[in-house]
Amino acid sequence: MTFLLMKTKINREDAIVLWNKYLKTEYLKLHTRESEAIMRKLALHFGEDEEFWGVTGLLHDLDMDIIGNDYKEHGYKTVEILKKEGYDIPEMFEAIIAHTEGVSGYDAKRKTKFDFILAAAENITGIISAYIAIKPDKKIEGTKVSSLKKKLKSKAFAASVNRPFIYDIENQGIELSVFLSIAIDALTEIADEIGM
Ligand SMILES: [Fe+2]
Repeated sequence: MTFLLMKTKINREDAIVLWNKYLKTEYLKLHTRESEAIMRKLALHFGEDEEFWGVTGLLHDLDMDIIGNDYKEHGYKTVEILKKEGYDIPEMFEAIIAHTEGVSGYDAKRKTKFDFILAAAENITGIISAYIAIKPDKKIEGTKVSSLKKKLKSKAFAASVNRPFIYDIENQGIELSVFLSIAIDALTEIADEIGM
């Protein structure tokens, strides 16, 4: 009866082991690490569980090196991996599936505040990293909220980033400007690690 042994929590140390085991592509490691940092800061902002929010950011794309270009199973495969590794963490699993809304082949849909925040946090990394790549000094430090807002409005810029998922953050009790400022602060803190 192995289900009795399923763990309903995961700490960062154990999450890092899985992160290193399943994610090999450098870009994905950066993206998920950035998502973690932003989720941690957002948790602090909302008075929520910093470790849980951070670890969910870290693990949300755990299946990406396995699914390749077939997004049909995206999110669901991550949950499958985590279950196989002995975890059953419904709130985390729901948010991981929900962030694939409109992308995966099933019925993924953001429902909870946590779902909406994860989807916004992981998407904003795409805008920020694309912006840093064209910034002359290539540094996150000193990045302005207004600059990111302009890039968000320019649909051709980092066109694959899901803008609606970012704008939806405003329905979760936080202004877009505050959200962007938190994201900049979070990535500035880990700038050396993520090469920004
Ligand atoms: Fe992601």
